[in-house]
Amino acid sequence: MDARAILVKLRDGHSPSAEELGWFARGLADGAVSDAQAGAFAMAVVQRGLSEAGRVALTLAMRDSGHVLAWKAGGRPIVDKHSTGGIGDCTSLLLAPALAACGAAVPMISGRGLGHTGGTLDKLESIPSFRTGLSEVALRAQIQDIGCAIVSASGEIAPADRRLYAVRDVTGTVESIDLITASILSKKLAAGLPALVLDVKFGSGAFMKSLGDARALARALVGTANGAGCKTAALITDMSQPLADAAGNALEVMVVMETLTGSNVNTRLWDATCALGGEALALAGLADNAASGAAHIAQALEDGSAAEVFGQMVAAQGGPLDFLDRWPDRLPAATVIRAITADRQGYVSAIDGHALGLAVVALGGGRQREGDRINPAVGLSNLAPIGTDLTRGELICVVHAATEAAADQAEAAVRGAYVLRDTAPKTAAKLIHERIA
Ligand code: URA
Repeated sequence: MDARAILVKLRDGHSPSAEELGWFARGLADGAVSDAQAGAFAMAVVQRGLSEAGRVALTLAMRDSGHVLAWKAGGRPIVDKHSTGGIGDCTSLLLAPALAACGAAVPMISGRGLGHTGGTLDKLESIPSFRTGLSEVALRAQIQDIGCAIVSASGEIAPADRRLYAVRDVTGTVESIDLITASILSKKLAAGLPALVLDVKFGSGAFMKSLGDARALARALVGTANGAGCKTAALITDMSQPLADAAGNALEVMVVMETLTGSNVNTRLWDATCALGGEALALAGLADNAASGAAHIAQALEDGSAAEVFGQMVAAQGGPLDFLDRWPDRLPAATVIRAITADRQGYVSAIDGHALGLAVVALGGGRQREGDRINPAVGLSNLAPIGTDLTRGELICVVHAATEAAADQAEAAVRGAYVLRDTAPKTAAKLIHERIA
């Protein structure tokens, strides 16, 4: 087969056959497809789309581009959660240990930052020495001992996604229902999951800007996953503003630690974690329904059992043994810390999450080019949520930067992203919009 013929088909609006997509996915994994061809493929799919059959074929081919895990029946029920990506979304860091504390096994294969959004692996790697690249043997042992692990898709798991993901990150080719579905589900199906809950985000900080697009993505994901034998439900959640009040790798780990240790609880993050966790426990058969599952998750967050598992996971994956007690000393801090304050009175009426995400990338918290090194300390904290009544001089957020020039650039981006109005917004942004199952 010839990559050019497949690309020409796509360019001209025809969906390639399952065999052709299978060949392309294998070529991504084994190097037969070049970077230029991978970029052209991603752009053509964004522009032209695949047929439904093509989307399913690409997903399964990317799953089969590497090793597919199988789990022995009879142990803890296996379940996972995945988000389509957003700003300040550190739910996975809370949810994996909370689910494990509730009796589930969570082999969470996560991604890095993509486009303007942050990535769970990059956040965890802000913890000194934390290893996300575990072998399959180590992953299985950790799931057995602790109940959860958050890892990268190794060379063995969905290698086609690993390659295409890195190409999409830097070529403006993320926003595609077909590519997002194939990317997320190739990893999740390769992890051998019997059950999965999906957080499909929409709004200014998400890849899907409208509820209609998010619904279409949720249906594609849920249909494809259930069709492949993974019991899956999706919640469509709000991303019209950052989920937590920080965006940036170490800064989001700080938010997670504050929540796990109870020193400061971010309500939207807490509510999203409980809602998604409730669905996951119900899918795994560990709760009668999503509402009672959510109550179990809240209990695990409140009583310290989720924190305990988080500490064990950090230690097992090479991080500091005393992270639970000493996290403020262990996380990196930026050299320039600048408070951005309101230059007039006004209510925060809208936030351009995409612009905030790009500001974090520009600070060095994400990648501009494949292989760029991330600065884990930079980002934005204390982000004022929608509805805040700011008086002149009150804090909009704090910029954490490596240089004064980078802080200047981030300050301009934040001021452009925040819309202040004289009157309060009429309705508070709803967090959970719909459930698709
Ligand atoms: N998360 C993924 O793993 N892939 C995407 O394409 C988007 C979010």
